[in-house]
Amino acid sequence: MTTPLADPSLRFPHRHLLGIEGLSTETVGMVLDLADSYVEQSRKRDKTLDLLRGRTVINLFFESSTRTRTSFELAAKRLGADVINMSVQTSAIKKGETLIDTAMTLNAMHTDVLVVRHGDSGAVKLLSDKVNCAVINAGDGSHEHPTQALLDALTIRRRKGRLQGLTVAICGDVLHSRVARSNIYLLQIMGARVRVVAPPTLLPAAIDRFGVEVFHDMRKGLEGCDIVMMLRLQTERMQGRFVPSVREYFHFFGLDRDKLAAAHADALVMHPGPMNRGVEIDSELADDINRSVIREQVEMGVAVRMACLDLLTRDIAGNQS
Ligand code: CP
Repeated sequence: MTTPLADPSLRFPHRHLLGIEGLSTETVGMVLDLADSYVEQSRKRDKTLDLLRGRTVINLFFESSTRTRTSFELAAKRLGADVINMSVQTSAIKKGETLIDTAMTLNAMHTDVLVVRHGDSGAVKLLSDKVNCAVINAGDGSHEHPTQALLDALTIRRRKGRLQGLTVAICGDVLHSRVARSNIYLLQIMGARVRVVAPPTLLPAAIDRFGVEVFHDMRKGLEGCDIVMMLRLQTERMQGRFVPSVREYFHFFGLDRDKLAAAHADALVMHPGPMNRGVEIDSELADDINRSVIREQVEMGVAVRMACLDLLTRDIAGNQS
């Protein structure tokens, strides 16, 4: 049997990866299958392949990042690509160059993939319309963070053996979270049931349109869940106060053992990071390897990004021939 890693016929049916919305079940499944192969590749002593030898990947991050930027860099290097991490702070953006001019400049250097994070929802799509290289959205405002949802799905699928039929509770600051949006889309595409658990102030006004069940009480929202996905309070996107106090927020919406007891006994605890320990999650629970898969999510991030870079550059080769 051909493993996904060795199957040259796999094709990603889009030029860019801008979001999960609009992807098919087959496409998500294909990325996860390929990423599974890259988990094994990343666990080997010699991790490097030459699939992307001669290709150039540029990381262009207008917002801070530890996990996403580092794992894209590692993923590209493990596939043999040349990687440039653009420092926005020391770039011509500081002299007033626009986002589009910056992207077109990098594109003119025969870049193969631009990985972009930006604080404005829709900015990455805007940029992708102006370049002929592949663009991967590494998080745009509160819109989407597709590779985070893919790595979360891979983590769940490897632990639970499936996504179909699982009940997943996404808890906390849904309003400002691109992770929540991408996960809602992906989990529904793959046949999971999604609940959101949050105070009314931290839910989008149009939450009804997402087809999720809404809860304002953690114990009720977690009842019978297979997965408890916690979100960071995104204070950098808040104008004004959305919660009375951090202490009160933790009391009602922070995940601790007492609230987790409402979920299935084997429910997994997830968090995309960075975590605010003692704000949205109890510190000791976050580190409990019997319940928390937060470290595993980070490992899956490299494998998923290898799969995305691999698939998007296969398409480029196909387009050029
Ligand atoms: N989860 C996530 O996007 O983390 P970073 O902000 O560290 O990339």
